[in-house]
Amino acid sequence: MPSPMRFLALAALLLSASAAIVPPAHQGVPNAPPSDDTPAPTPDNAVIVETAGQVDQKSGAPIDMPPDAAVPPTAVTAVDGTLTNATIADVNAANTTRRRDIGRFGKRTPEFEQVFAPLSASEHDGSIQGTAYLTYTVVNNATYNVQACLDWCATVNGCVFVNLYYEFNNFLLDFVFSEKSNLKCAAYGDIHSAAEKLNTGGQASYPQDGNKTVPLTFITQSSGWALSSLVDPDTPEGYELVFGPTNGANNAPGYMGFAFIDKYDVDACAQLCNGRGADPNGGGCAFFNIWRAVVSGVPTTYTCSMYYLVADVSTAVNFGQGDLVVTLSRGYARKNLVIDGGFEGYAACDDFCFTESYANWIGTSAPGGDMDATIFNFIPYAHTGHSVALLGAAFGDDALPGTLTPAAPLETKAGAHYVVQAFVISTFSGAELEKNANVSILWNGARVGGVTGFMPWTFVQATVVGTGSDKLEFFGGAAPAWSFIDDVVVYEGPAV
Ligand SMILES: *[C@@H]1O[C@H](CO)[C@@H](O)[C@H](O)[C@H]1NC(C)=O
Ligand SMILES: *[C@@H]1O[C@H](CO)[C@@H](O)[C@H](O)[C@H]1NC(C)=O
Ligand SMILES: *[C@@H]1O[C@H](CO)[C@@H](O)[C@H](O)[C@H]1NC(C)=O
Ligand SMILES: *[C@@H]1O[C@H](CO)[C@@H](O)[C@H](O)[C@H]1NC(C)=O
Ligand SMILES: *[C@@H]1O[C@H](CO)[C@@H](O)[C@H](O)[C@H]1NC(C)=O
Repeated sequence: MPSPMRFLALAALLLSASAAIVPPAHQGVPNAPPSDDTPAPTPDNAVIVETAGQVDQKSGAPIDMPPDAAVPPTAVTAVDGTLTNATIADVNAANTTRRRDIGRFGKRTPEFEQVFAPLSASEHDGSIQGTAYLTYTVVNNATYNVQACLDWCATVNGCVFVNLYYEFNNFLLDFVFSEKSNLKCAAYGDIHSAAEKLNTGGQASYPQDGNKTVPLTFITQSSGWALSSLVDPDTPEGYELVFGPTNGANNAPGYMGFAFIDKYDVDACAQLCNGRGADPNGGGCAFFNIWRAVVSGVPTTYTCSMYYLVADVSTAVNFGQGDLVVTLSRGYARKNLVIDGGFEGYAACDDFCFTESYANWIGTSAPGGDMDATIFNFIPYAHTGHSVALLGAAFGDDALPGTLTPAAPLETKAGAHYVVQAFVISTFSGAELEKNANVSILWNGARVGGVTGFMPWTFVQATVVGTGSDKLEFFGGAAPAWSFIDDVVVYEGPAV
């Protein structure tokens, strides 16, 4: 136990150390590492184009598979320039009624138009090798049964195009499968042209019979039929459509990378965005841009580009390069349940001011405390923009924690999963005085996450479950161990 004299000396020392710190309310200069002024990255279009030149997503109905297979889940064929073959765990979507019904067509009967006519029955023809192949069926071959094929397409989720053709010398169609029909109807999630009639058969399907020549498969009367107008996709859960369709892909800052998927599936892009690892400086995925790459007139791949900043149509100015043309570009922003999570709504002055509360956020001090949770309009303190929140007495006149909460409860969906994300910095008073800095994230009063210690701007997140109306709070600060908080979001979806 220190002697009274030593104790007094120690106390005086601590007092003078903290007295040297000019508190935020007096516009003190933070003892922070230099801020990262690297510009936010934009898409590397050369990598996207190069990868589009490597990927092969073209296929058609196989000769050795029975008809009426379930449409496989959307596959990822490339991630950030590296080819892959991965599926997206589509758990959420599989549970929504929206994906189960044939929602693309609603209740109306789809109308189809012929894209290309069949060659005459006596000529060899070719079937489509194209992107977004879904599945196939066989229809009654007593006639060239176009209507049965179109009717079937309307029952296949995502079908916008069918290729109808006879396939001869396919042993399974002729003798094994119960339908006893060689009139194949292949469904696609994209529209194809006669230029893509690249499968002309030539495969051996019949078993070898002694020394007889095995007859090879061949195709006749291949026609293509497409929906007369492409139906707008449903907006994915937790997102809103920002723009599209246009013929320009985004060239916007805050780029996090891209993936190719094997069909135009906005839900799949949303899942990729939800699952994308956060950028340490920019935060979680906040926006995606889906577009179709058409190379030399032929649909080739479907790109999902992901961003931590929300972009809009003003930056959707990449129309393609070389043989690659951008089509069907749409932008979707992730819905942030927090109103004004960046505190930019507090703009009561040009340069420097602070407040305990304003329209969107409320700061509350501990009993006996003074200005323990505040909002500052002062660019040097902010992570982005001009405003930021502070935990810990703004004047440094008490060491009590403050509580910061949105002015209104968050309108969640009961039972849905959410992720709370924010940036926190605890460097203001230097490493020693900030070593016990402590910020907690509270959800309906329960601590769900937080950070402690001296730290530069740090991305923090916590997962929560909605109840329908939820209270988010940031709690902490013990001046001079101040912490600033900025760029708060609450998104539907998992933590990343
Ligand atoms: C991708 O993987 C699936 C499942 O393993 C497989 O069935 C499919 O043939 C693969 N596709 C390619 C193009 O390799
Ligand atoms: C989806 O349904 C399955 C089976 O009913 C269930 O186990 C799973 O938790 C559900 N997923 C979501 C996200 O609701
Ligand atoms: C219909 O398909 C079956 C099975 O492939 C075949 O045996 C039959 O000859 C076909 N009929 C016509 C009219 O093409
Ligand atoms: C095919 O086999 C039969 C009987 O096994 C034989 O008579 C015939 O000469 C063979 N033909 C050829 C071209 O080898
Ligand atoms: C930070 O504060 C919370 C809430 O008061 C507390 O539960 C937690 O233990 C503290 N963490 C540290 C490292 O002090």
